[in-house]
Amino acid sequence: MDAVLEVDNIEVVYNKTVQVLRGLSLRVPRGAIVALLGSNGAGKSTTLKSVSGLLSLEDGEVTAGDIRFNGQSLKGRPPEKMVRDGLFHVMEGRRVFEDLTVEENLVAATYALTGRGQGVGGGQEMVYDYFPRLKERRRQLAGYLSGGEQQMLALGRALIARPELIMLDEPSLGLAPLLVEEIFEIVARINREQGTAILLVEQNAAVSLAIASYGYIMENGKIVIDGPADKLTDNEDVREFYLGVGGKEGEARSYRDIKHYKRRKRWLS
Ligand SMILES: Nc1ncnc2c1ncn2[C@@H]1O[C@H](COP(=O)(O)OP(=O)(O)OP(=O)(O)O)[C@@H](O)[C@H]1O
Ligand SMILES: [Mg+2]
Repeated sequence: MDAVLEVDNIEVVYNKTVQVLRGLSLRVPRGAIVALLGSNGAGKSTTLKSVSGLLSLEDGEVTAGDIRFNGQSLKGRPPEKMVRDGLFHVMEGRRVFEDLTVEENLVAATYALTGRGQGVGGGQEMVYDYFPRLKERRRQLAGYLSGGEQQMLALGRALIARPELIMLDEPSLGLAPLLVEEIFEIVARINREQGTAILLVEQNAAVSLAIASYGYIMENGKIVIDGPADKLTDNEDVREFYLGVGGKEGEARSYRDIKHYKRRKRWLS
């Protein structure tokens, strides 16, 4: 299938010294939801920053490999141009303007796009259609929204850009399980109705694989296992160590066992 995003064997180094990505490759087919999973520090956020160009703000650099959006290399393309071209990165920790109201946040997102003439009209109404809670709170300062509502607003700001690909960094972070389900259902609906491809970075493997068609699991800066989402969900190792389902007899394993297992680096063998 035609890919909207291809990450091809990239290496990333911070501060010219610390290598974090070691030959990472993945692809997002047009209009698909792809999950990128892995534990703390695996390099998930670094992967998204490499694509969106935000790496340079943190003294990071892609030292090898290539990243292509719609078949064209992103090398040297400024981040603001990427947004206009249809690639939107929703960063970890719901970045919204806290001193602006919900509505002003959405208006600001629209202004940021004036360089991309088409497809911006009606954006606010579309956002309110997907997130009725935001409509109810549209005159409230974003800083006073709940964590879940801020995550909705961050997603809404992305929607205004009518992107072809949204990269979402841990939308479930710090949210109650019911709210996570609600947000993921809306993400799936946006994907279905708008045809927007989603690269979903998560530690929560279960909810991600439920809406994704394909998944990658990364450890220590590279992909260690990948496959169709249903295959990953059925994979015994993935079930045991990423979905928190017990071993063969169904017994619960302790966190320490898991740590120990990981130290043996079985994923890498
Ligand atoms: N700006 C930076 N400078 C130096 N090292 C960094 C920087 N940002 C991240 N790192 C390191 O790179 C590694 C990967 O970090 P990254 O944030 O990409 O992981 P992650 O998979 O997103 O983790 P988490 O699930 O905790 O968000 C970590 O070891 C981290 O300490
Ligand atoms: Mg991260």
